[in-house]
Order: sequence, then structure tokens, then C-alpha cells
Amino acid sequence: METGATALVFYGLGAVAIAAFLLALRRRLQLSRAKHGSLAGHARIARRIASFVPFYEYGEGRFFCSDNAPADIAALRRAGFMRLSTLYATRFRETNRHTAEVLDTISDLQFTQAYRVPFQYGRFVRQHLESGAFVESSEGVMIADLDGNRFYDLTGSYGVNLLGYDCYKGTMERGLARVRELGPVLGPYHPVIADNVKRLSRISGLDEISFHMSGTEAVMQAVRLARYHTRRSHLVRFCGAYHGWWGDVQPGIGNPVPARETYTLKDVSEDSLRLLRTRRNIACVLVNPLQALHPNGGAPADSSLVDSGRRARFDREAHADWLKRLRALCTERNIVLIFDEVFVGFRLALGGAQEYFGVQADLVTYGKTVGGGFPVGVLCGRKDLMKRFRDDRPADICFARGTFNSHPVVMGAMNEFLQLLDTPEIHELYRNLDARWNERAERLNKRLCEESLPVQVANMSSIWTVCYTRPSRYNWMLQYYLRAEGLALSWIGTGRLIFSLNYSDSDFEAVANRFVAAARAMEQDGWWWRNPSTTNQSIKRDVIKEMIVRRFSTLRDHPRPTLGN
Ligand SMILES: Cc1ncc(COP(=O)(O)O)c(C=O)c1O
Repeated sequence: METGATALVFYGLGAVAIAAFLLALRRRLQLSRAKHGSLAGHARIARRIASFVPFYEYGEGRFFCSDNAPADIAALRRAGFMRLSTLYATRFRETNRHTAEVLDTISDLQFTQAYRVPFQYGRFVRQHLESGAFVESSEGVMIADLDGNRFYDLTGSYGVNLLGYDCYKGTMERGLARVRELGPVLGPYHPVIADNVKRLSRISGLDEISFHMSGTEAVMQAVRLARYHTRRSHLVRFCGAYHGWWGDVQPGIGNPVPARETYTLKDVSEDSLRLLRTRRNIACVLVNPLQALHPNGGAPADSSLVDSGRRARFDREAHADWLKRLRALCTERNIVLIFDEVFVGFRLALGGAQEYFGVQADLVTYGKTVGGGFPVGVLCGRKDLMKRFRDDRPADICFARGTFNSHPVVMGAMNEFLQLLDTPEIHELYRNLDARWNERAERLNKRLCEESLPVQVANMSSIWTVCYTRPSRYNWMLQYYLRAEGLALSWIGTGRLIFSLNYSDSDFEAVANRFVAAARAMEQDGWWWRNPSTTNQSIKRDVIKEMIVRRFSTLRDHPRPTLGN
């Protein structure tokens, strides 16, 4: 009898264990299904693979024919490269000299210089095509370097430059003038802040505002508040989306520690909605509306442009539909929906991405341009979510400070910026915004097509990216041809071109002419030569093979191995 009871208990426990296991398995499979198939969708694996990638580089011999181009094509490329090299050395002499002087002591500069092109080509490019890091003036849509060269600015100062540099010179100066009497007093507020919160509340459609020093900090605070109020642990971000460099929103490559309370899910996906519907530990969903240009893709940078696989295409209606469904689900599940508009806020519409896509979020972050030229992060939110303490639990607080938050100069310049948004001249810039930028992109694409150049642009309003239509290993060279034509790009090269809204038709025409000229020169110099059997897949395969060979061969004897020298 006793033995029978013991067996019964044993079987019961076994059944419970199996049921628990099956349940856990089901949950795990559901999570796996909601992850994007790319490496960016699998943070842990990506980090592991990244640590496996060995350094190697192409010596001069291989540099011009890493795609096995014939000798005449390699010679053509070499001649074009050396012509550019001479031009860079003479035209950018002073700018380069200054850059070389500080390079050893500015860590950020070393990083950006190292990651302009795929690493296999890096050293040779840096030796011959120095990218000067200094500029000394801006005017209209142009910036000028230390040699007096003027460039059309396509860097957009990481997105800060929305209305044109001269506009920000004004907001910075007037902002400073308005708070001059107070100076750097921190803690108490300058009265200008009252108008800022009123305007930001109207723009965001939300009740309360907090100020921070950067977009990253604003996002940190948004997530912290969501966790505090929901008492749940996990944040959801979508594959490829950038939300600043705080660890929790940047799992995977670039962050030395794992982000254990972050789910990276597939963007625009039913599988992700299914997961959101069933998990109880999700505090918030972070949305960077820029991802609509390349859902699930990381920020496109030329350092990873080893083939022509970069894809981008923006469909406003489809994305609005997705965001609305996400909104509805977050409401249903009490998940905090955070729009991270640090980059796109004010760029797509006066009311930001919320207005543009017709979706009201619970928390919204802004940054970059809203500082009127000074550094800032802003969080706007629903009253119940912004509260940092509980009336009934005085010790249970959600702490957030920051010495320079609400700095008088930033508040002054911000107010000048926000006031400008209400002027007829600025309203005029926003009129038919998408139509204007779409038409410009189409016009450029038509010209590139007519000349059979293997380049096309894709855009989300004034944010553009360059795509390549012929499989090639050398697309990253285009950034150097563009610079030679007087177009300034940021360190991520052709991955992102950011226009300020004050680009006139004639400014744009000049940019388009130079862009086509650069692509034409690159084509004439043979960089886009292609063996008919080459595909993006075959290029990727070849690169992976090279890495594997390097990893398992001469690494110990040759710490900086060189191919085909
Ligand atoms: C969407 C988004 N969120 C957050 C950040 C971080 O802002 P910051 O660089 O001011 O810290 C950025 C910066 O590019 C961004 O694009």
C-alpha cells in the first residue's frame, strides 16, 4: 500500500516536472520564433561570433583585386586610388596635419577612423586617404575645413542639424543672452523652463517633462520609470534599433556585458506580438521610428559594407499600421509604449513621429535638435508614469538626477528653438516635406539609373541611405569619391546621409550633380567591375572562408596577418 502511494507521488511529481519542462520549452520556442534570424537578432551569439573574428588585412597586391579582378581592372583601380590619394594629400593638407597631431590622444577619433571601411582594407586606406576630422565654420548648408574647402553637409551633425546651422547659431546666441544674468546656476530653474515644458507637453501630447543631458539618459529614465511603475523586469527593443549606448538597450556587439533583462524581438512581426501577448514580465516596448526605413536592420555603416546586401525601403502606411497594432496590444497588456524620437523627433513632422504615424505613445524621448544646438535629452510622459515616488511607500522611489539637467543655456536655446517651430517660415519648411524629399530621391535615382550606375538611394523623408545594386566588395570606396566632390559624410559613410530642411532645390541639384559625378568616377576607375558569377552570397562566403582560414592558421606567428602582400 505504502509502495503504491510512493509510486503515485513519484509519477505525480514526474508528470508535473514534464509539464513544467514542456511549458518552459514552449515559452523558449515562442521567444526563439520572435527573434529575427539575423545575427543582430541574437545578441549573445553575435557577441560570441564577434570575438571569433580574427584580424587580417589585404596587402597592397590584394587590396585592388580582393574580388579576383583581372590585372587590367586592378591597375585601373590603383590609378584611381592614387589619383584620389594625391588629391587628398594636397587639398586637405592642413586638416590632415591637425588630425594626425591629435589622433593618438583622442580615443573616439581612433575608433571612428578605424571603422570607416571594412577592416581588411583599413590600414591601406588610412595611409593614403586620410579623413580629416576638423572643420572651422558653417554657413547655409555647407561646412568648411581648415584648408578652406567647402563641403555640402550631409552629416546632419548626427541629426541635430534640422533647420540649418545658421538657425542654431541664432538659437545658441539668443539662448545664451536670455540666461546671461543667471549664468551657470544649477538646481534652481531659470524661468524660461516654464515655457519649454508647456510647449513640449503640447507637442508630445503628454503631461509631464523631465530634462536630461543626452538622448541616452532620456531613454534610461524612460525604461527605469516603466520598470518602476509596472514592477516588471524586461524591456523589449526591436532588432537593429539604436537607442543610445546604455547597456540594457544595446545588447550584443559593442557591450561587454550581456543585457539579461532585454528581449530583442523581430520588428513588424506577428511572432513578436504573440510574445508580448503572453509574457508577464515585459515592462515596456521601445520603438525607434527610424527603423521603418530598414526594419530589423542595424544602423547601416560602411565598415560592414563587405558586399551589396544593404537594403532599405520605407512604406509609411504599412509602418503606421504596424505601430497602431503594437499600440493597441501594449494598452491591452499594460505595457508601456516608448517612442524614442531622439533622432526623428521634429524631423518627420512638427509633432514628431507620433503625429507622423498617428500613434500616441505613453512615454516619448527627444534629444539632439531640441537643445537648439546644445546637448540635451528630454522625456515626456503620462503623469502616472513620470512620478518618481509612491505616496503610500515613501522609501520606494525611482531615482533620477544629473548635475547638468536643465542647464540655463540649454533651456534658453531650447526655448528659442521651440519658439521658432511656431513661425510661418519654419512651417513653410515642413509643408509637403515628404513629397519634396521623395521627389528629390526619385530624381537622383533616375539619373543614376540613366547612367547605369549601380547605386540607388532610399529615404525616409530627409534621412537617406545609399544602396548598391551590383554585387561588389568595394562600395565603401564611394565615400572617398563623394568627399573629393565636396560632399561631407559622417564616419559611417554612405550608410546615412542626413539633410537639413533648409536645402533649397538648387542646393540639392548641386549635391545630386556631385553625387552622380562621384559614382561615375568610381565606375570609370573600375571599382564596380564584376565577375558575372559573383553574388552577394558568394562574396560573403569568400569573406567567411578568409576569416576561418585566418583563425585556424598563422595567427600565433603573425599577429597582424596580411593577405597577398
Ligand atoms: C533613437 C536614438 N535614441 C537615443 C540616442 C542617443 O542619444 P545621445 O547620443 O544624445 O545619447 C540616439 C543617438 O543617435 C538615437 O538615434
